[in-house]
Amino acid sequence: MKKSAARAKTYKIAVIPGDGTGPEVIREGLKVVQAAAGKYGFKLDAHMYDFGGARYLATHEALPDSAAAEMKTFDAIYLGAIGHPDVKPGILEKGILLRLRFELDQYINLRPVKLYPGVETPLAGKKPEDIDYVVVRENTGGLYTGVGGISMKGTPHEVAIQEMVYNRFQVERCLRYAFELTRARHSKAAPWRGLSEADRKAGKTGKLTLCGKTNVLTFVFDLWERAFYEVAKEYPEVKTDYAHVDATCMWMVKNPEWFDVIVTENMFGDIITDLGAICQGGMGIAAGGNINPSGVSMFEPIGGSAPKYTGLNVINPLAAICSGAMLLRELGQAEAGDDIETAVAYVTAKKLKSLGAGKMGYSTSEVGDLVVAQMA
Ligand code: IPM
Ligand code: MN
Repeated sequence: MKKSAARAKTYKIAVIPGDGTGPEVIREGLKVVQAAAGKYGFKLDAHMYDFGGARYLATHEALPDSAAAEMKTFDAIYLGAIGHPDVKPGILEKGILLRLRFELDQYINLRPVKLYPGVETPLAGKKPEDIDYVVVRENTGGLYTGVGGISMKGTPHEVAIQEMVYNRFQVERCLRYAFELTRARHSKAAPWRGLSEADRKAGKTGKLTLCGKTNVLTFVFDLWERAFYEVAKEYPEVKTDYAHVDATCMWMVKNPEWFDVIVTENMFGDIITDLGAICQGGMGIAAGGNINPSGVSMFEPIGGSAPKYTGLNVINPLAAICSGAMLLRELGQAEAGDDIETAVAYVTAKKLKSLGAGKMGYSTSEVGDLVVAQMA
C-alpha cells in the first residue's frame, strides 16, 4: 500500500453516533479507524448524521425520507446505537435501524463470535481457540418484514398475526454468501474448525451449519433446507451440517468449538447472536455488520444505547472498534482491519481488567488510546 498522501484513496463514511453511549463508542471507533487509515495510507472522510432519539423528539421524524438515497452515496455507514428512554420502543428501531437495513438491502447481518485472549467467558473451561465462529444472519426477511396485523383489537376475540415470509431469492443469496464466507475463512491460517479427521481426509476445509426448525416450521425451513443442499453442491470443500435453533443454543454453550460458520434466518439470528455475544464476553466486545455485498454496508456494535452509562466515559468501546475493523475489511482494507483486531487482542489480553462498563480499569477514551498506541 502506497503511503503517498496525494494519491491516497479516500472513502466517504456516513457516521451515525445515535443515542446514549453511541457517540462515546463511535468517537473511539473513529479514532482507531482514522489511525489505521493513516498507517495504511488511505483516507476516511467522515460525515456526521444526527439520526436518533434526540432528533426524533425534536422533529417527530425518525429518518428523513431522503436518508436512504443519501446513504447510498457513501462507501459505508458507521453506527453507534439507536434507542432512547423517552421514545416508545419500536419507533427508532424500526424507523432508523431496520429501515436503513431494508432500504439499503443489507441482506446479511454478519456477527463474529470470537473470544479474545484475556476475556472472561461464562462458558466454563472454554478458551479463545474454542470460541471463534461467525453467524450469518439473514437480515431483510422473515418475521421482520412478514405481513401481519391485528383485528378486533381490545376485545376478548382480538387476533394478532405476524408471518415469517421468505422467498427463494432471499434465502439463496444469503446461503451463497455463507458458503463463500466459509470457503474464504479457510484459505487462511486456522483451518479445520469443527471437522473430524474423516472430514479432512474427504477434503473438507470448513463447516457451515444451517440453523433452522425443520421439525415445526415445515414450510419456511423446507425452503431453506432444500436451497441449502442445492447450493452446497457448488461448494464441495464445505462440510454441511444442520441444527435446530433450540439445539444450536445448547451447542453454542456446551460445544462452541463445533461451530465454524452458522447461517440462519433473521429472528433466529437475532436471538442466537445475543447468546453468542455473552459467550464472547458480552456486549462490550460484540461487533456486527449489516452487509450489502454490492451496495452500502452499515457497521454497528451489537449492544444498545446503554442509557445509564451515557456521558460517563465508562462504556467499553471495543465492540464499536471491532465493528470499525469490519468496516475497513469490507472496504477492501483487510490489512488495516486485521491490524486493529490484533491490537484489540493485545489490549484485552494485557490491559483491561474486565470488559464491563466501569470495570475496565480504564476510561472509554483511554481504551481507544490503548488500541491506537498498540497499532503504532
Ligand atoms: C439487533 C437488534 C435489532 C434487531 C433491534 C434493535 C431492532 O436487536 O440488531 O440485533 O432486532 O435486529
Ligand atoms: Mn438483537
